[in-house]
Amino acid sequence: MDSIWIKGGATLKGEIPISGAKNAALALMPCALLTGEKLTLKNLPRLADVDTFAHLLNQLGVSTHVAGVKKGEIGRRMTLQADEIVSTTAPYDMVRKMRASVLVLGPMLARMGEATVSLPGGCAIGDRPIDLHLKALECMGAEIELTAGYVKASAPKGRIPGGDFSFPVVSVGATENAVMAAVLAKGRTQLFNAAREPEIVDLCNLLVAMGAKIKGVGSSHLTIDGVEGLNGCEYEVMPDRIEAGSYACAAGITGGSINLIGARPEDMQATLNALAQCGLMVEFHNRGIKVSADGALKPLALSTSPFPGFATDMQAQFMAMLCLAQGDSFLEETIFENRYMHVPELRRMGADIDIHGRSAIVHGVEKLTGASVMATDLRASMSLVLAGLAAEGETEVLRVYHLDRGYERLEEKLSAVGATIERRSSG
Ligand code: UD1
Repeated sequence: MDSIWIKGGATLKGEIPISGAKNAALALMPCALLTGEKLTLKNLPRLADVDTFAHLLNQLGVSTHVAGVKKGEIGRRMTLQADEIVSTTAPYDMVRKMRASVLVLGPMLARMGEATVSLPGGCAIGDRPIDLHLKALECMGAEIELTAGYVKASAPKGRIPGGDFSFPVVSVGATENAVMAAVLAKGRTQLFNAAREPEIVDLCNLLVAMGAKIKGVGSSHLTIDGVEGLNGCEYEVMPDRIEAGSYACAAGITGGSINLIGARPEDMQATLNALAQCGLMVEFHNRGIKVSADGALKPLALSTSPFPGFATDMQAQFMAMLCLAQGDSFLEETIFENRYMHVPELRRMGADIDIHGRSAIVHGVEKLTGASVMATDLRASMSLVLAGLAAEGETEVLRVYHLDRGYERLEEKLSAVGATIERRSSG
C-alpha cells in the first residue's frame, strides 16, 4: 500500500493551482441522470471519488467520456449521457465505498419515478444517517420503503408532485437530493432551512443552465417549479474551497507564503477570517488569494457550523496548524460527533491536545516531531500531512487512499512550493 513520506522543516513558497471542487463534482455528476442529452463538466478534479462516481453512473446506464483538456483549461472534461437508464439501484458495495452515492436517489426518482439505494451504514466520521433525504422526498410526494438494508423511493403516478419541507437540521446532501428531485416534479417545491454551501449554489446554477426553475439560489429558502424536461449543457465545476483552505494552512504551519491560484474569496470567508485571526496575511488578487505567515501563529477559538460558518471540513487542518500557535486554542465540532480521529496521531507527533466531548483545547507547543501516522478520513489525513510538513524529521502518512479521494496531485503540488514529499510504494 502507498504512503506519503515527508521530510519536514521546509518553508513553503510559491503558487498552487486549485482544482475543481470534489464536493461540487459529486453533486453535479448525478445531474446527468436528469436528461437524455449530453452534460459536459469542465474542471473536474482527478480524484478517486470522481472515478468511483463515474463507475456508479456507468452501472446505471450513463455513459461517461473523458476528453482531452482544451488549451487554457485545467482539470478534466467529462461528457456524461443518460439516454437510457438500465438500472435504478445504487448497490451496497458502491454506497459503502462512497457515501455520496446516495446523491443518485433524487435525480433517479425524478427521471424514472423510482430509485433504490443502499443505506450507507456507519462511517468513519460518525453515524451520518439519511433520514432527512428521505423525509424531504416524502414531503414532495414520494413513497419510501425500507427493506433489507435498501431504501426504495417511488412516485405514485410515475412523477412526484413536489411539496414543502423544512429541514430541522441543515444538511448539504439532503438539500442536494431534494433539489435534484424537485426540478422535474409536477408542481412547486419549497425548501426551508436549506443548506447554502457554495457547492449547492454550483448545483443550482448547473440545473438552471439545464432549464430548471429555481428561485432563492444562495439562500436557505429555495423555491423550485418542476419542468417537463431538462436539456444538456456545458458547465465548469467551481474551485475547491477546502483544498484552497488546506494549502493556506500549509503556508501558515511552515511559516511560508502560498498563492492559491483560482481560489474564490467569497466561498471561504470564514476560513480566511480564521487565518487572519491566526496572524496570517491574506491578500486578494485577480488570480486568487495569497496567504503568508507574518510572525508567530496566534491561537484562536473556532466552532464549526453550516455555511457561511466555519466549515467542519477545515477543522482538522486548523487543528494541526494551531498545535504550533503561541498559546491555547479552543475548537468545537458541532456538525459530526466523531471528527477528532486525528488527535491521537497528532499527539504522537508531540501535540498537546485535550478533548472534552465535542470540544478540543489545543495547547501550542514549540515543535512537532515526525512519526509514522495514519487517519481514517480524508481531512484528518490532510491534517497529518500538514503536521509532517512542519515537524522535525521524517513523517510517513499511511492509508494514502483517503488523500487520493480528495486531494488532486497532492505531492506534486506541495513539492512545487518547496516541500520534501513523495509517494512511496510498499511493493
Ligand atoms: C457534506 C460533505 C462533507 C461535509 C458535510 C458538512 C459532500 C460529498 N460531503 O456531507 O464533506 O463535511 O457536507 O458540511 O458534499 N444528517 C442527519 N440526517 C440526514 C443527513 C444529515 O441527521 O439525513 C446530519 C449529519 O449526521 C450531520 C449533519 O446532518 O450531523 C450535516 O450533514 P450533511 O450536511 O448532510 O453532510 P453530508 O451531505 O453527508
